[in-house]
Amino acid sequence: TEGLTVALLGGGTVGSQVARILTEDAAVLHDRVGAPLTLGGIAVRTLDAERDWQADPARYTRDAEALVDGADIVVELMGGIEPARSLILRALEAGTAVVTGNKALLAAHGAELYEAASRSGAQLSFEASVAGAIPILRPLRDSLSGDTVHRVMGIANGTTNFILDRMDAEGASFEEALAEAQRLGYAEADPTADVGGLDAAAKAAILATLAFGSAYTLDQVSVEGITGITAEDNAAAADAGYVVKLLAIAERGTAEDGTQGAVLRVHPTLIPREHPLASVRGAFNAVFVEAENAGELMFYGPGAGGAPTASAVMGDVVAIAQRIVRGGPARLRTPVAALPALDPAEARTSS
Ligand code: HSE
Repeated sequence: TEGLTVALLGGGTVGSQVARILTEDAAVLHDRVGAPLTLGGIAVRTLDAERDWQADPARYTRDAEALVDGADIVVELMGGIEPARSLILRALEAGTAVVTGNKALLAAHGAELYEAASRSGAQLSFEASVAGAIPILRPLRDSLSGDTVHRVMGIANGTTNFILDRMDAEGASFEEALAEAQRLGYAEADPTADVGGLDAAAKAAILATLAFGSAYTLDQVSVEGITGITAEDNAAAADAGYVVKLLAIAERGTAEDGTQGAVLRVHPTLIPREHPLASVRGAFNAVFVEAENAGELMFYGPGAGGAPTASAVMGDVVAIAQRIVRGGPARLRTPVAALPALDPAEARTSS
């Protein structure tokens, strides 16, 4: 098979890491996909901006449409509604697969995008849009598709968990902790979406969409952020055996007239110290799922930052590329012969 061309839209914190992985790990990706993945270009607003990882300068372009038109897989990491929405629709309508991490766009215009994808048969994947590196959307959609999900509760915003944790553990001020989260690349370009709860609300809508199977939108989520939480609140919670976490919650509910539906909300929540969600520190995320037959599950890991989020993006890219190349289901991630089993009594490991 000839190579597959990947068009990257956005060269920010996550986009830079996707460009790095496509470049540095080209050989292993080629092996897993069965064909080379070529970085067709990176569409950016400013050609000569400072970046976390610098690709070959000739790869950067301001002409996103031309890049989309020449791609086999479009990776959208620009964020915001426009031009991301139009570029994704352009790709899907042409039958080109799209990978996006754009939670705000999915939570506002998901239904339009899912319809465009199903009309043309193009694949649309967005594992990176919720909880960074944590595989949670595919497990909700696939692994739990024979079960009934009752409730999903997520610590789905790393910035606010980082801030609450620093306030709780070190008595840091809100402002100090936010500045540190921004420096570490966890926060959104506009951090009011983090601290005001809107970023978590977008993720609640997306989690509900996968868990309950209809396209929920941001305006269906009730939202309260953490800007009203003080050091005194944290101390009082700690004294009573609780920790304050910002939760994104999607659960089944019943309206007054008996209608069954989904209830979506984001708010600071008092969690008992012994609950698994209480152990989630720093910018880590966790998604706690309650299902009829599975019982309680927790998915845990890095929920923000360039490389972790790029890992989720690349998982989607490889899965799509494998389908394009083989036309069938994905195989084991490496050929079986590539890593022989060693004698545990003699082999050295890094752990
Ligand atoms: N600003 C987001 C967060 C980035 O803090 O979790 C990941 O979606």
